[in-house]
Amino acid sequence: MSAPSDAQRMEKIVSLCKRRGFIFQSSEIYGGLNGLWDYGPLGVELKRNLKNYWWRVTVHERDDVVGLDGSILTHPAVLKASGHVEGFSDPMIDCRTCKAHLRLDQLVEKKGIKQCPSCGGKDLTETRQFNLMFETHVGAAADESSIAYLRPETAQSIFVQFKNVLEVSRKKLPFGIAQIGKAFRNEINPRNFTFRSREFEQMELEYFCRPEQGMELLEYWREERLKFYESIGISRANLHVRNVPDEERAFYSKGTYDIEYDFPFGRHELEGVAYRSDYDLSQHQKASGKSLEYFDEETKEKLIPHVVEPSAGVDRTLLALICEAYAEDQAPNDKGEMETRTVLRFHPRIAPIKCAIFPLLKNKEPLVVKAKEIVQLLRPHMTVFYDESGAIGRRYRRQDEIGTPFGVTVDFETLGERDAALRDTVTLRDRDSMKQKRVAIKDLVETLTPRIR
Ligand code: GAP
Repeated sequence: MSAPSDAQRMEKIVSLCKRRGFIFQSSEIYGGLNGLWDYGPLGVELKRNLKNYWWRVTVHERDDVVGLDGSILTHPAVLKASGHVEGFSDPMIDCRTCKAHLRLDQLVEKKGIKQCPSCGGKDLTETRQFNLMFETHVGAAADESSIAYLRPETAQSIFVQFKNVLEVSRKKLPFGIAQIGKAFRNEINPRNFTFRSREFEQMELEYFCRPEQGMELLEYWREERLKFYESIGISRANLHVRNVPDEERAFYSKGTYDIEYDFPFGRHELEGVAYRSDYDLSQHQKASGKSLEYFDEETKEKLIPHVVEPSAGVDRTLLALICEAYAEDQAPNDKGEMETRTVLRFHPRIAPIKCAIFPLLKNKEPLVVKAKEIVQLLRPHMTVFYDESGAIGRRYRRQDEIGTPFGVTVDFETLGERDAALRDTVTLRDRDSMKQKRVAIKDLVETLTPRIR
């Protein structure tokens, strides 16, 4: 059997995501809303595992980072000072032939003439700037005075709350403020499944430092972030660091790396790690008239801290995790015949369900009772799934397809019917090798927990 092409592979991934409840199109029964997605029962678990793990390594395991959960609706003054009201836009063009709205960089060029990528039309409008922010109104009056924006990045509330957080946390430079939350961008052309969405989540860290520490910390955070991706199961070979050239960087950035991933639809950005100098705090200090300075007790100097920002997308990372985990191999069915198996090889740390528990037969009460006891035993330590329906091979396949790393089967040996020495032992199956070994029920928690943490 030949390997699927990248396009076929992506099609299979999208279909699996829907079929098994990872990701659904938003408002699907009404025809869907473009660029918006809902996470189903397994998607939400995967997402939580990712966010919790990011929070653990970024905040809980460090002394120098604290958290924030800022509001989504944002005062227009914040986004004026940050430059978003004026400049957070993409150049846009319409095709007069097929009416497609396009980003300038989507046009194709043939023999020096720009064409519409959808219909090949050459009758295009002039370029105009399209601001990507969603605008709304706060309060009963829907006029200019009540405009607020849905935040286009989580970063700004960190800058605006810098002084409050500094005062309550009493941190010394360098230190960071982390946030995970929704961001909204009215993307001209959402595409590639969840990759470019109009509503998405970010995991952002603003790491404040003295100016002379900036470049070194930029390198440090690039390495830390690469380690993070590897620790959730993304292979280094599929990750790439792009040193963003001067002409592409924001004018205030002294250095930016994009961490990119080889998706089936091409190599694209997962995260930006940017040294933003003191631009953001200076802008907010100027616009608000409130001091955002830091007093260095050692040097007795007042300064506006500089900042290094690792900014990752939750949805993009989740998509990368699914793409990375998706595999097809050969496995024997219940009759011992080899067949194609679809498997998500998630790292156990982020797998939505850690362990599935099966009684060999559902009509043998002692097997069912024992299996349900094991569910109760494991549940306080991990997400589990109990399944008694269908042939055991089919049940394994269903769990392989959603990436459950471990399977526990209660069989007649467990009851001690064939060999008293095997009483209260079960088979523990490994998803990737499909190998099974016998483990005492009392040792299950101890065996599994180090492998999922
Ligand atoms: N505060 C800096 C900032 O927002 P960005 O490069 O615009 O920088 C950071 O966004 C990350 O947010 C991206 O690397 C990506 O993972 C995610 N992201 C940005 N736009 C997105 C979109 N339309 N859909 C999904 N994720 C997006």
